[in-house]
Amino acid sequence: APPAIIAPSILSADFGALGKECSDTINNGADWLHVDIMDGHFVPNITFGAPVVTKIRSHVAKPTEKHGKGTFDCHMMIAEPKKWVKEFKNAGCDLYCFHYEAAISSTAAESPEATSDAKTSPKELIRYIHDQGMLAGIAIKPDTKVDVLWDILETKDEKEKPDMVLIMTVHPGFGGQKFMASELPKVAALRQRYPELNIEVDGGLGPGTIDQAADAGANVIVAGSAVFGAKDPSEVIAKLREAVEA
Ligand code: DX5
Ligand code: ZN
Repeated sequence: APPAIIAPSILSADFGALGKECSDTINNGADWLHVDIMDGHFVPNITFGAPVVTKIRSHVAKPTEKHGKGTFDCHMMIAEPKKWVKEFKNAGCDLYCFHYEAAISSTAAESPEATSDAKTSPKELIRYIHDQGMLAGIAIKPDTKVDVLWDILETKDEKEKPDMVLIMTVHPGFGGQKFMASELPKVAALRQRYPELNIEVDGGLGPGTIDQAADAGANVIVAGSAVFGAKDPSEVIAKLREAVEA
């Protein structure tokens, strides 16, 4: 499996001191920052948009290599993922992870050629994200079957291949929810077919749930409340890493 990547979700950080929270988190041993963007439509909650990403970018050095330390992993829980690609690129996002569910409803509606074959629209969006110079991720909610990803992952065209798949282990919208172990067979099925794929899990992860996720084959670990709620965030980050590397 690819190397462990620990990506604390700043959703549980102190939004009044976000710049410092971000730089502290990197200094505490995090690889990436997981940046949750919610629009109040795709999910029943609102966080922040590109102007905030621009500001926190100035507190965290850009990664010097693909998937490197300081990567901004933007989890786009938004109804119109295509619309915001350029804006987030300009704000300093490195990895733009959109939801499959949003892509098939919004890009299919936007683009006349996509309506006849909605399945091709996630690939078009991945190509578009790559053309803008970002890595592309694709996320699925607990109610979406992993099978929808096979066609996308099987593409022969590198430009249309996702750099990461995100399996949600809670219903997106809020931090601090209970981990859904029911989602782990999706991770295991992905890992069995794709030994080198970056597989991210998000929701309810912490020292008590990491072993199950790591055993299933996840290597990119998001944790919000477990990191930011801890007395010693660096200890939690180290524990998560050890569990994935074990
Ligand atoms: C939930 C977000 C998560 C959230 C995770 O919709 O996508 O990234 O911050 O928070 P915890 O780790 O507290 O479940
Ligand atoms: Zn997230």
